[in-house]
Order: sequence, then structure tokens, then C-alpha cells
Amino acid sequence: MITKEYINKLKTEKNGKFSELLNPQEDNKHLLFILDNLGRLPQDFNGECFIPLLNHQNDKVRLLTVKNIGKLKNDYYLDYVSRVAYNDDNTMVRREALSAIGRMRSEKAIPLLIKKLKDSDPKVILQSIRALLVFKNNNSVRNRLKKLIKHPNEMIQYVINKEFINSNNGTKKKKQKHPESPAYMKNVIVRGDVRDALKHVPDESIHLTFTSPPYYNARDYSIYQSYKEYLEFLRSVFKAVHRVTKEGRFFILDTSPIIIPRVSRQHSSKRYPIPYDIHPFLVKMGWEFIDDIIWVKPEASVKNRNAGFLQHRKPLGYKSNARVENIMVYRKKTDKLIDWNIKQYDLQTTIKRSKVNEEYETSNVWRIDPVFDKKHSAVFPLELCNRIIKFYSYIGDLVFDPFAGSGTFGRAAINLNRYFFLTETEAKYIKRIKENIRQYNLSSTHIKPPQFLNLKTFILNSKV
Ligand SMILES: C[S@@+](CC[C@H](N)C(=O)[O-])C[C@H]1O[C@@H](n2cnc3c(N)ncnc32)[C@H](O)[C@@H]1O
Repeated sequence: MITKEYINKLKTEKNGKFSELLNPQEDNKHLLFILDNLGRLPQDFNGECFIPLLNHQNDKVRLLTVKNIGKLKNDYYLDYVSRVAYNDDNTMVRREALSAIGRMRSEKAIPLLIKKLKDSDPKVILQSIRALLVFKNNNSVRNRLKKLIKHPNEMIQYVINKEFINSNNGTKKKKQKHPESPAYMKNVIVRGDVRDALKHVPDESIHLTFTSPPYYNARDYSIYQSYKEYLEFLRSVFKAVHRVTKEGRFFILDTSPIIIPRVSRQHSSKRYPIPYDIHPFLVKMGWEFIDDIIWVKPEASVKNRNAGFLQHRKPLGYKSNARVENIMVYRKKTDKLIDWNIKQYDLQTTIKRSKVNEEYETSNVWRIDPVFDKKHSAVFPLELCNRIIKFYSYIGDLVFDPFAGSGTFGRAAINLNRYFFLTETEAKYIKRIKENIRQYNLSSTHIKPPQFLNLKTFILNSKV
């Protein structure tokens, strides 16, 4: 019985015994076990024993063989591996062959890698790009790679754009430091239309936006002439939110399809798939889709739509009770990784203090009871806002709700040592926010007392 220890011992010996282990006539299980457990290979390892296995009929054997040759990082094997990269009919094996060639970092591989930029599998092309980027100072390599910006695959376009087109080597605009935000917006509630307020907010001011937009004609505060006009309104708000959001930061939207009841028994009710209609334009305007979280409410808390079906039980007449809302998570599109955003903060103070050390929900199913408010018909539960703030912002950040309603998001922000910025059109809800503020924890160290402003004063403040 061959063990990992035995393989480890044999691979360092120079008596040829190891190559006997890789006899192509051995059964697949035996070969796979050895190839999978080879680990690191000594620098002077003789890889000739792998060559016969490159034509093995089992895909996995060929794949692991190529992988092990890659570990040798030696262009002596270039011809053998090139043949695999060209001729193997398994795309996974071809990808692995390209990866092995990349690890050789050999100029001799350039012509082959360039030919592979025409492979039918975008992942093979991406492997070739990766390998060629080692030689990106070579003009002909560079020019060839740049042409791929026209490739239909979005990942390929992204890499080429990041490496050559948008690589930030031009002059940079002077921006506010990432953790900072305009003082005149901190803990401010503006009574007015969010679209007017945002015209007086500089680019890249806000760290996080969480909101639930007005429902389409389902409540008194949201009357639009048509669904098209409603979607157009949301599009213009979310585009402005995109402009004022800092690079790589999050925009989180709570929506759900809504039902407009039937006019009479002769008509049917109409369901509007709001999340699905919003998503395409969000992506188009530069929000990158990150996550879909589902907020689940207890069945007893939602409207019963089952009464009819419960009686007649006839297929096609089934209607489900809507217990979920969609928490759609987007990030302002950027070449930078999340790690870049995190590194903008001070490790010892902000990062340490913002860590989520308590137990947390690991799945995308969030079971949270809804809250009913005497003044506003659609308020966020505080728990929902708390999770969003803790998972998607740092202490001292500026967080925004463009459709503030009763201002629950602002309340959560204060409790969690973030600054808030809220906009709301309706006077009665502004009043509700004021009442709510009494419950705010104003003992927090960074606190700046909340300011209620009309649009005019906000605009004046923005100019100071
Ligand atoms: C679904 S409610 C938000 C409720 C809120 N999440 C809460 O916790 O109370 C939407 C709110 O958007 C407000 N609104 C509608 N159009 C607006 C606009 N153009 N600018 C600012 N607020 C607006 C409505 O008055 C309503 O209070």
C-alpha cells in the first residue's frame, strides 16, 4: 500500500524508483493518488517520468500531470506542455497547460501564448493573458494584448482595461481621503426631494447607501403617472447616488415586487417585478452586483392571499403569501479589490473598533420580524439597519438613506458610531424622525447633534 510518506521519500531519491511508480499501465486510482499527493517537488527533480502520462486516456491523470510539470518551472518541458495546450480536447487540461507554461516565465513561450489568445474558451485566454503579462514591457506583447479590449468576454475586457487602459498612470484628481466625508452633511436630515439635495453633494462623499424606495403607487406618498415614470424616477436617483458614492463602496436596496389590486372582479390585479426591472439599469450605470440577501418575515405578519385557493384548490389559481423582500447588494464598480477599501482605514483604531465580533448570520436568509409604526406605513426594522451598517461600513463613515421615511437608518447609524445623511420629502415623516431622535444614543464620542434643514439652508451650507 503506497502512502504519502512513501511518495515523499521516493521523490527525493535519485535511484529511478519514483518513475516506476508512474508507469502508465498502472490503474487510474493508483496514478491519481500519486499525482495528487506529490506536493512540492525538489528543484533538481527529473520530470521525464511525467512525459508518457501526457497522452493518458484519463482526463484527470493528464490534468494532474501537467500541473506537476508546472511545479518544475522549467522551460525544458515547454514543447511537451505546448502540445497539450494545443491539442488536448479537454478544456480544463488546456487551461492547466497554459498555467504550467505561465509558471515557466520563459520568453520562448510568447509565440504559443499569443496563439492561444484565439482559443474558444475565455478561461484559456485569461490564462494566456496572465502568462503574457510577465512580458508586458515587450511592445509587441503589449500591443497584442491591448487588442483584446474588443473581446466579447467581460472578464477579458476587465483585465485588459485594468492593465493597459485605466491603469491610473495619468494625472489624478485631488480627492478627499477615503475615510473622510463633507462635514456639512454629517448627521443632517434634509427636507426635500433627494434629487435636488444630491445636486449639492460633491462626487465621492458617501460610504454606504441603504434604502427602500417608495412603492409604485401602493402608498399615499408615492403617486406616479405610470410604471415607466416610476422606474425613470428611481433611475435618476440611483445614478446620482452612484456619483456621490466613494470608490468601491456599497449601495444596498430593499425592494420587492408589488401588487396593485384589481379594479373590479372583472379585472385581475397586477404584479410589478420591481427588483428585476431595477437591476439592469443599476448594472448599466456602474453598480456591480455583489449579493442577493432575502429578508424573510413570519407568515403571520404578511397579507394572506390564499383565501381563494384554500377553498377551490384549482391549479393556476395558486397565490403565495409574500414573506420576503430582496436586499440587493451592489458595489460601485472599480478595478480595486475590497482589500484596497479596507486598507484606507487605520488598522489599530478604526478597523479594530469596527470588527463584527459577535455572532452573525452566515447565510443570505435573514429572518427578521417587521416593525409597525404608528406614523409611517413601511419602516425598516432596526435590526435590519444594524446588520447593514455593521457589515458594510466602518466607524466614522457617512451613511445615507435617500428615502428616509421615519429615519430608522439614521438611528442605527448613530448607535453604531457612523454619521448619517437623510433626505425625505414629507413633513409628517420629518416630524417622525424628530420624535425618533429622542431615542438616539447621543452619548457616543464622535457625535455631532442632528440638524434638520430645509433644502435652501442645506444648499447654503454646501457652499461654505
Ligand atoms: C418606503 S419609504 C422608506 C421608509 C424608511 N425605510 C423607514 O425606515 O421609515 C419611502 C420614503 O421615501 C419618501 N420619498 C418619496 N419620494 C421622495 C423623494 N423624491 N425624495 C426624498 N424622499 C422621498 C417617501 O415620503 C417615503 O417616506
